[in-house]
Amino acid sequence: MNEHKKIQLKDYRPFAFIVDHVDLIFDIREDHTRVTSKLKMRKDPAWADETTPLVLNKGKFDIISVVAGDMVLLPGEYKSDDETFTLAATPDVFELEIANILKPDENTALEGLYRSGSILCTQCEAQGFRNITPYSDRPDVMAPFSCTIVADKTRYPILLSNGNPVKSGDLDDNRHFAVWEDPFKKPCYLFALVAGDLAVLEDRFTTSSGRDVALKIYSEKENIALCSHAMTSLKQAMAWDEKRFGREYDLDLYQIVAINDFNAGAMENKGLNIFNAKYVLADPQTATDDDFMGIQGVIAHEYFHNWTGNRITLKNWFQLSLKEGLTVFRDQEFSSDMNSRPVKRIIDVKNLMAAQFPEDSGPMTHPVRPDSYIKMDNFYTMTVYEKGAEVIRMIYQLLGQDLFRQGMDLYFEKFDGMAVTLEDFVGVMETVSGRNLDQFFLWYTQSGTPEISMTRQYNDNTGSLSLTFTQSTSPDRNQSEKKPFHIPVRISLINRAGETVKQEALYELTQETHTFKFENVSADIYPSVFREFTAPVRLSTDFSDQDLAFLMARDTDPFNQWRAAQTLFINEIKNLVTAIRTGRAMTVSSGLIQAFSLALEDRKKDRAFLSKALALPLETEIKDHFEIIDVEAIHQARTFLKQTLAKNLESELKTVYEICRPAPPDDISGAAMADRSLKNLCLAYLGCVPDKGNQALVLKQFENAGNMTDEFAAFKILSHMTPEMRDSACQAFYNKWQARTLVIDKWFSVQAQSRLKDTLDQVKQLTTHKNFTMANPNKVRALIFAFAMNNPIHFHRADGQGYEFVAERILALDKINHQTAARLCACFNLWKRYDENRRILMKRQLETMAGQKTLSKNLYEIVSRALE
Ligand code: PHE
Ligand code: ZN
Repeated sequence: MNEHKKIQLKDYRPFAFIVDHVDLIFDIREDHTRVTSKLKMRKDPAWADETTPLVLNKGKFDIISVVAGDMVLLPGEYKSDDETFTLAATPDVFELEIANILKPDENTALEGLYRSGSILCTQCEAQGFRNITPYSDRPDVMAPFSCTIVADKTRYPILLSNGNPVKSGDLDDNRHFAVWEDPFKKPCYLFALVAGDLAVLEDRFTTSSGRDVALKIYSEKENIALCSHAMTSLKQAMAWDEKRFGREYDLDLYQIVAINDFNAGAMENKGLNIFNAKYVLADPQTATDDDFMGIQGVIAHEYFHNWTGNRITLKNWFQLSLKEGLTVFRDQEFSSDMNSRPVKRIIDVKNLMAAQFPEDSGPMTHPVRPDSYIKMDNFYTMTVYEKGAEVIRMIYQLLGQDLFRQGMDLYFEKFDGMAVTLEDFVGVMETVSGRNLDQFFLWYTQSGTPEISMTRQYNDNTGSLSLTFTQSTSPDRNQSEKKPFHIPVRISLINRAGETVKQEALYELTQETHTFKFENVSADIYPSVFREFTAPVRLSTDFSDQDLAFLMARDTDPFNQWRAAQTLFINEIKNLVTAIRTGRAMTVSSGLIQAFSLALEDRKKDRAFLSKALALPLETEIKDHFEIIDVEAIHQARTFLKQTLAKNLESELKTVYEICRPAPPDDISGAAMADRSLKNLCLAYLGCVPDKGNQALVLKQFENAGNMTDEFAAFKILSHMTPEMRDSACQAFYNKWQARTLVIDKWFSVQAQSRLKDTLDQVKQLTTHKNFTMANPNKVRALIFAFAMNNPIHFHRADGQGYEFVAERILALDKINHQTAARLCACFNLWKRYDENRRILMKRQLETMAGQKTLSKNLYEIVSRALE
């Protein structure tokens, strides 16, 4: 394994040149595309002198011609290799024209210019633009772009780029062209081009100042009927950003294109978003309620980037959270306003705890602003995105809604058109609030999840309740000693009747230990702390299981009700794991069954909320609560708890299942979705007991479902029952949906996550299925990721075969798509946390990977960090 250089934040230097204009020409031919880039440049006197060479980033392609001014340069007069293009000297002001040939059909990495089916498209973030043409591929080099596309009119009737269409027309040989101009300066990672035979869904939006914006969503012709939910979501997002943040759209045209082969979820290219089709296409027959929510959220996310990311962009990639954390915060707020706020909060926090907390405790731990990277692609992480959003949320809470809005206004005003830093962002928040956020800034520079313990002391004589909070953060590879964080905590007090006796207020922890004293309260008062998950910390309290059962029923913050329920489940599972390990019989406490039953009977509770509160934590979440992860015991304990609850509460579950049924199958209102989610939770409980009646109930729903939410829920349950039930469900589902590639992804993922014994063999078989290909990231995620990340008992088979299979797939994938291969490799990251046998087996796979002669930089970085 070769060593690769780390890029460090402390080495940041501005680019020594200014790009005044970029003019690109794409001449698309049958088997290649010829790119010509005309750059107008000048030296930046602050950073360049007469000896400064021009060094541009460049991918692996051949240069055909270079013209500087009116001089044709010979190959000896410039230097070009697989990484850079260099001119030893340049005038102060100059024009440079470089032409090169690309082979998009051979580009399996899906960065730069590539083919997805019959469509040609680009993906440039983070550093893909250099694979298109030599350029200073960094976010702080901003320029206005124009783009001319020339192509065959039959194969590529639609030619799109950023900004506004300015000219188009026919040429000889059945060819045509289109010229686009983007008036806004932008970094090259926001450049985009699409050419193909696409259908379009059109709509309009009038902004608050009266700009009439044409909205266009493009997809393959057969899918255009599936774009209307995306369009509705876009209009909702545009209206919301005006209302909540005073941000209007700034061009006359907003375009979205749905693509089948895409490494990520979607991309915010200026005026031309490119989306993974999964986040555009939906109807109730083929998409689940979660898919509908996902689309609404991602459409909004990319739209919000127009201000947070595009108009104001990043000084360097280390600042990634400046656009991503902030934009995730914005999309979370949007989804909360459009749907149920408490439920959205629960979903987001669950996601954070299940994926970001473990990331932050393993080899990929990094501050929200990383200090170094080998491949930036590896830092599009839960930490940068989700923890980054939590950090913004804390600022929002510390300042309050009004000051935060003022801070945002100032941010937009002061930095519009610029490439800035996290200090700039926090700086405006300091300016408007007059607060010092120096200690707070540690959230950006220090990695790790703080652990907070809370204890109560009640003084009978004085009637005062003291709450003592202690924080500590474990040292890690980034900092050997951690300073205390500045942590906001929202606290309210409630009595036994569930009434608020002290209104919620914000408290701040800045030292290792803090005690807050509440006077004149009675002894049976409960504190409700970290309401709405005020800060991204692990919390332990001195609450007993009885206390938790009370809070689950009566806390005035739904998030904390959820948390209490989850903590009860975790405590129960911990006890069961201990019983398994010490050979004692497993029993579930009657208190838990009763708390569960009470919650199920509460007809006033929001059903979407209940479906979250009563869902057991996933095995992947549970593992985070163990020092050493015992895969089998956790699985056994969770299954036992689920079955015990189901057996004890069978009739209640059936009752709730029945009451939740009436919504029409294609109703995607919040209430209908809430009913379905609770109904399907009940079904999942009922379906986990091997009982003929329950099996028949699941099968009936599977066969008669009128929408994908119900069909898929039943399908998942069937996939765990018996090989026969699974196989016939798989057959039926496949026959029905084989022509719909996004639904077939669900088919793969259900099989990959089955608990049945032969799952690994099934998954191996499926890699040769005619609908499967390693070249399509959605397929790889549906089958291989789902197996490696969400099927712990089979991935972590004691014989190591799960590891061997996945490692072999990672290496195969690394040859064609290094970004996705590196992401997949995260399944080995926590290897040190498992028992000795698994530790050795996982390490062996990492070492095999490390021993390869040709490993991509992306995968190298993940593997070498894991083995460090
Ligand atoms: N910037 C995209 C987003 O979060 C994500 C992305 C990163 C897409 C890198 C592609 C490549 O909206
Ligand atoms: Zn984003």
